[in-house]
Amino acid sequence: MGNVHVMDHPLIQHKLTYIRDKNTGTKEFRELVDEVATLMVYEITRDMPLEDIEIETPVSVSKSKILSGKKIGIVPILRAGIGMVDGVLKLIPAAKVGHIGLYRDPKTLKPVEYYAKLPNDVEERDFIVVDPMLATGGSAVEAINSLKKRGAKNIKFMCLIAAPEGVEALKEAHPDIDIYIAGLDEKLNEKGYIVPGLGDAGDRLFGTK
Ligand code: PRP
Ligand code: URA
Repeated sequence: MGNVHVMDHPLIQHKLTYIRDKNTGTKEFRELVDEVATLMVYEITRDMPLEDIEIETPVSVSKSKILSGKKIGIVPILRAGIGMVDGVLKLIPAAKVGHIGLYRDPKTLKPVEYYAKLPNDVEERDFIVVDPMLATGGSAVEAINSLKKRGAKNIKFMCLIAAPEGVEALKEAHPDIDIYIAGLDEKLNEKGYIVPGLGDAGDRLFGTK
């Protein structure tokens, strides 16, 4: 059964404040999103399996632990999810990266899939889906549908900011996945934006408008 985890680490909360601030420019915004992604992935990988090996230190033989080599896949939801990929790869450099392209139709707010390219051993990997925003939840639900349809079994979802509506929608559609959030906000406005949120994550990351 999946759970919702709000990550209240002081470094994450501090950086999130500057991510939200409308006076933060594109360069700094991008750097902060990257840093928060790294901090979040450090926390969410606590359950990674370890195995024992024997090594020799300069002093003696030592029984030590290494990661057991579980294969990981990172899947950013295009476009804004791309901003979190490098931050995750800093700690899991051997992960494969799949991409799922979705945009929200501005009238219906429903996600439209326009691209999907995943590692071909989907069934053997544990996936971390990344997207800065979980608003109505439509994009995350659809991206995870897409991954499950192709055989993925073990999936985590990681975002910077979520609206309660999005969390509920994702929990209902995919009760098996763990959801990791840096900031759980108040609500959605009539245009489907998270309040207080950070505005349009893709536009702020890529300097478009
Ligand atoms: C944003 C965001 C999420 C989605 C969240 O993407 O990055 O993918 O909205 O909204 P939802 O929970 O209501 O589906 P957007 O559609 O603006 O596309 P972009 O990343 O290409 O800017
Ligand atoms: N997508 C964004 O980029 N921001 C929001 O507030 C909601 C959806």
